Amino acid sequence: MKEVLGSVVVILLVAGLCFLADYNETSKKKTKEIIMDKWGIWKEQMMWRKFLTADNPVLKAMMTLPPGQGISALQQYCSLVHMIVVYLGFGVEQIPVRTVADELRRNIAEEQGSRTNGIPHREILGRLFREEFKAETFAPWSLTTRRFHMALFSKFQHEQNPRFIAGMIYALEATACAELQVVAEIINCFAGYTAIDLKSSAEPTTLSGFFAMHINDFEVGHESKLREALEDYISEDWRMFTEGFSFVLDHMESWWDGLASEVYQNL
Ligand SMILES: [Fe+2]
Ligand SMILES: [Fe+2]
Repeated sequence: MKEVLGSVVVILLVAGLCFLADYNETSKKKTKEIIMDKWGIWKEQMMWRKFLTADNPVLKAMMTLPPGQGISALQQYCSLVHMIVVYLGFGVEQIPVRTVADELRRNIAEEQGSRTNGIPHREILGRLFREEFKAETFAPWSLTTRRFHMALFSKFQHEQNPRFIAGMIYALEATACAELQVVAEIINCFAGYTAIDLKSSAEPTTLSGFFAMHINDFEVGHESKLREALEDYISEDWRMFTEGFSFVLDHMESWWDGLASEVYQNL
């Protein structure tokens, strides 16, 4: 009788362990599915922000102005083209995941010219802009630009939670395609003609090509490769990631509102 009881206990124990292991696997799978849904939700929420759409306040202002006005807004936006490698560098240092750091390093190298004959993207943009409009893309930061970069810089410097930092970096990359499409429209308003045709060949030898290459290639890779690298890491605490993501979107939104006010102030 004792032996039978012993066997029953062993069988129950094994069954219990199998159930727990299975439960663990299922719950892991479920968390992954939730996170996968989350990427879609984050993207959708991102596109509710007016500054990433045709309702961008600077674009709306430019549409009411004659060509040749509003260069300051473009110059201020280009500060982000300069600063992006600095922010990605914070990510490399502060996110303790090898695959993420590797992807951010690859991204930085690309910005520094790894696929454009060693010429950094900011330099290409500056040269093409000068050639097309006889104007400089980079300028001292305005008050609203200073507020934007100081807010990001100080958060990168002092934030202790690396998943919050991951959310910030992801926001910078996830917004890039939509934001560049808006900037292309702003440039067309400034030019008074279709200076940027996004259907043009994706070679960064013209301003059109530079934007097309970013929207169809560079930025698509930055977002998707970063998402893949982050997937497992943020599934352990996606709330902090969401907070970092929203933090950047909120500051970008205020920045674009401020830039629109400055367009009118500078007339
Ligand atoms: Fe770039
Ligand atoms: Fe990027």
